[in-house]
Amino acid sequence: MVILKLPQEIEKMRVANQIVARILKELEGHVKPGVTTGELDRLAEKLANKEGARAAFKGYMGYPYSLCTSVNSEVVHGMPSERALNEGDILSLDFGVSYRGFFGDAAVTVAVGEISQKARRLMEVTKSSLSEGIAKAKAGNRLGDISAAVQSEVEQAGFSVVRDFVGHGIGRSMHEDPQIPNYGVKGRGIELKEGMVFAIEPMVNEDGYKVRILADGWTVVTEDGKLSAHFEHTVAITANGPEILSLLK
Ligand code: MF3
Ligand code: CO
Repeated sequence: MVILKLPQEIEKMRVANQIVARILKELEGHVKPGVTTGELDRLAEKLANKEGARAAFKGYMGYPYSLCTSVNSEVVHGMPSERALNEGDILSLDFGVSYRGFFGDAAVTVAVGEISQKARRLMEVTKSSLSEGIAKAKAGNRLGDISAAVQSEVEQAGFSVVRDFVGHGIGRSMHEDPQIPNYGVKGRGIELKEGMVFAIEPMVNEDGYKVRILADGWTVVTEDGKLSAHFEHTVAITANGPEILSLLK
């Protein structure tokens, strides 16, 4: 069941997602060679608490950190550690908060120092695939229109979309219906309605789409060991089209 949000609820989600956006921006500014993902995790939690928000991932299904930090061939749910970032790495920062009863969720992939052309292009295509998907988040469209737009942008560039993890509805829970795959068929799936709020989150692999989960039970990596990138926004379907609640104002 997809829960529709009233304008006053979307306003609360705007506030929660602006907290996420501010924190991701601040974290991005700290990403450089030598910094550890554990330091970023602790900073994320501290910043959330300073805003009066709760870091939403911590404790979720037993996840022990506030932030997901996925480096290079890590796709999503990378666990922060005392390992330092290296020049040339790409790092996905995925962060969520709950604030006054509503959740915000967003992710970005950032470069650590100078990165390869190939890594740069992977990041750019992943980001543009998210934009293409968001553009279809309009009342009257179908869920498959979002999925197909993401997939087509990715595959045109010669990359692949991860199948095993998907985006999701979001609201008073971090994960609500519907699931939002990053692959699909235009015109299929549920009809989109004003008041739906979605976390759309393409995970894009440089080569094969297959992934596996490491022995830590969380870290998702590409099966072929090649690079992966991830971007996520929380988006409300309004009378005026899609509004990206997690885009920094
Ligand atoms: N953005 C991810 C998601 O929506 C992050 C969840 S990480 C977890 O599923 F630790 F909270 F599971
Ligand atoms: Co999410």
